[in-house]
Amino acid sequence: MRIMQLDAPSGTCTLAVGESLANLASYCTSGKTVIVTDNNVRRLHANKFPKAEIIEIERGEDAKTLATVHQLYEKFLELELDRSSLVIAIGGGIVCDVTAFAASTYLRGMRLALVPTTLLAQVDASVGGKNGVNFKGYKNLIGTIRQPELCLFDFDLLKTLSQQELRNGFAEIVKCGAIADANLFAYLEQHHSEAFSHKKTAIEKVVYDSLVVKTDIVAKDEREESGERMKLNFGHTLGHAIEKTIGLPHGEAISIGMVAVANLSVAKGLLSNKDAERIESLLKKIGLPTKLDYDKSKVIDAVRKDKKRREDDINFVLLEKIGKAKIEKININELEGIL
Ligand SMILES: NC(=O)c1ccc[n+]([C@@H]2O[C@H](COP(=O)([O-])OP(=O)(O)OC[C@H]3O[C@@H](n4cnc5c(N)ncnc54)[C@H](O)[C@@H]3O)[C@@H](O)[C@H]2O)c1
Ligand SMILES: [Zn+2]
Repeated sequence: MRIMQLDAPSGTCTLAVGESLANLASYCTSGKTVIVTDNNVRRLHANKFPKAEIIEIERGEDAKTLATVHQLYEKFLELELDRSSLVIAIGGGIVCDVTAFAASTYLRGMRLALVPTTLLAQVDASVGGKNGVNFKGYKNLIGTIRQPELCLFDFDLLKTLSQQELRNGFAEIVKCGAIADANLFAYLEQHHSEAFSHKKTAIEKVVYDSLVVKTDIVAKDEREESGERMKLNFGHTLGHAIEKTIGLPHGEAISIGMVAVANLSVAKGLLSNKDAERIESLLKKIGLPTKLDYDKSKVIDAVRKDKKRREDDINFVLLEKIGKAKIEKININELEGIL
């Protein structure tokens, strides 16, 4: 088990990496404690939950709404929680996002701990302080940035995930290597199957190194003001558009997005062909799609509608080499040509 600390303007978060959920109680000091989870996670892992009141929320992206937040507020009120109470989210990215938003806004902010139970939530959703819900079909339109006091990463919880859920998480780990850690990328090339089959040293190494990448970036640019945090969007502008138009799972969509942007980086004379091939080949080995016969105009349309778009130029995260990202403005018409 290793302890990391993320110091950001909105707060300090302790990350207990490789800790067991069964030891969570030792981190929960005084005050009332409540757990928020979903029925899947409860059924599979409640035997390790600390003793506390449990609130269940619905599963799926459709539950990531203000209506669910409303239900949580009602429960918090009913349980007479106060500012010293600790709210613990135990679940995937959805449970973490909704709970963190409710806990950050109720009484202007209660104490919060996150126990991410999917690989995607461990390497991405639970870290960085962003939380929120969808609104009128727009993802994560409403939210806050606030660090939880604790994030606990128990790798044993990942053993009940489907292969598809695991692959979703691996796409984000490849992303971390590609934008900021060439050693992590090279390690994945050699050891991805050990990590995929839950070999402890391998899974611990790839999650820990991804957390180093994410926490370093968040510590430098928590509110996405200097461009640093934007690097975490590598493959995501196209990925989100593909996810929206074709309905692929997030990891699969950003896998295709990362390969397309690696090729775009080659076309712009930034990245070597060899590095672009390494990215495509690693994603393939993990079992992620790298190409798709998709309707390009629909995807471009979805990119145009992206709320981060400024005029016809979009800030894109390109690569200079594996382990080094660069933000450049790309004209949307140029993008259409390259795709
Ligand atoms: N806040 C952020 O910075 C951030 C970053 C990335 C993604 N996200 C958000 O995360 C969400 C996606 O998260 P996700 O991929 O974890 O999906 P999810 O939360 O929907 O979980 C996927 C499914 O796995 C089940 N599950 C969870 N843990 C399990 C376990 N250990 N074993 C078996 N099944 C388990 C859940 O019940 C659910 O059905 C999206 O809404 C996305 O916007 C947020
Ligand atoms: Zn992502």
